[in-house]
Amino acid sequence: MTEQLRELEARALAGVASAATPEEVEAIRVDVLGRKGRLAAISREMGKVPPEERGLIGKLLNQAKTSIEAAIAGREDAFEQEKLARRLDAEWLDLTLPPPGVRPGSLHPLTRIQREIEDLFVSLGFTVLDGPEVESEYNNFDALNIPPDHPARDMQDTFWLENGMLLRTHTSPVQVRGMQTLPLPLRMIAPGRVFRNEEVDASHEHTFYQLEGMMVDREVSVAHLIYFMKTLLAGIFKRDVTVRLRPGYFPFVEPGFELDIQCLICGGSGCPVCKQSGWVELLPCGLVHPNVLRLGGIDPGEWSGFAFGLGLTRLVMMRYGIDDIRQLQGGDLRFLRQF
Ligand code: PHE
Repeated sequence: MTEQLRELEARALAGVASAATPEEVEAIRVDVLGRKGRLAAISREMGKVPPEERGLIGKLLNQAKTSIEAAIAGREDAFEQEKLARRLDAEWLDLTLPPPGVRPGSLHPLTRIQREIEDLFVSLGFTVLDGPEVESEYNNFDALNIPPDHPARDMQDTFWLENGMLLRTHTSPVQVRGMQTLPLPLRMIAPGRVFRNEEVDASHEHTFYQLEGMMVDREVSVAHLIYFMKTLLAGIFKRDVTVRLRPGYFPFVEPGFELDIQCLICGGSGCPVCKQSGWVELLPCGLVHPNVLRLGGIDPGEWSGFAFGLGLTRLVMMRYGIDDIRQLQGGDLRFLRQF
């Protein structure tokens, strides 16, 4: 029986040591240590053992059981370790890579240009004013000398609200607010979002951005206007742009001008942005109409001024070579990430 036990232990230990899978180990455990296993069978034979040998056999039995259990536990442990090592190998992580999905943000091109122009004008002594997007008919039209029957007031051009207010169609109502709030002489700019009831296409949006400017002082003339517009364009484009000045009509300026720049997308040969003309209207401007000064509480006999309404959206398109206005507010990240 002693022999039998030693042999059983030796075979079990060898079997555990050479087992290739946890299943093989488990099979040995059941076969040797299980309730109906080999060790149990041997201990059932104990009755037949002469009493003086029982102590020794019992001891050997326990030793065999303990050593086999220990071997099994060790082997199972080894399998766990191997499994973990394989998993660590397969799921290898490079912790130095930037996390996916999180990218540094960037400013929208409109914001960038707006801030640049604000800096430029602040350095020239201008104040930056803000005005509401929902405006009164008075500030958007009447106070700007736009007559009651002017086509711009039409539903086709203006978004009217049910309470009689409107979405401002230009930033010029902020001129009105500036004349009411700023002391004279005044220099102000007002960047902002404006709205027109437009059919949307590559060069028209119902929502776009302008930057209004106004200066009121004694003896302001067209020479001042031209000086500031040249300074503005040089600051924006940082290169030579071809410009032309045409007479332009706006009820709130007299004389009024259209300052066009040669299209920077096509270089003047014609494209959708310049409507094939080679020129882009960028900077309507003029001397403030005496009626507007008067309505703003300013004596036109003593003071004069110039005003301009820069098309910020158009400017951004020129600057970055964007040929479809819809991209600017389309929210497509592939577009925005280029800036
Ligand atoms: N408010 C005018 C527009 O939106 C532009 C403009 C502003 C023209 C100031 C002259 C002076 O069309």
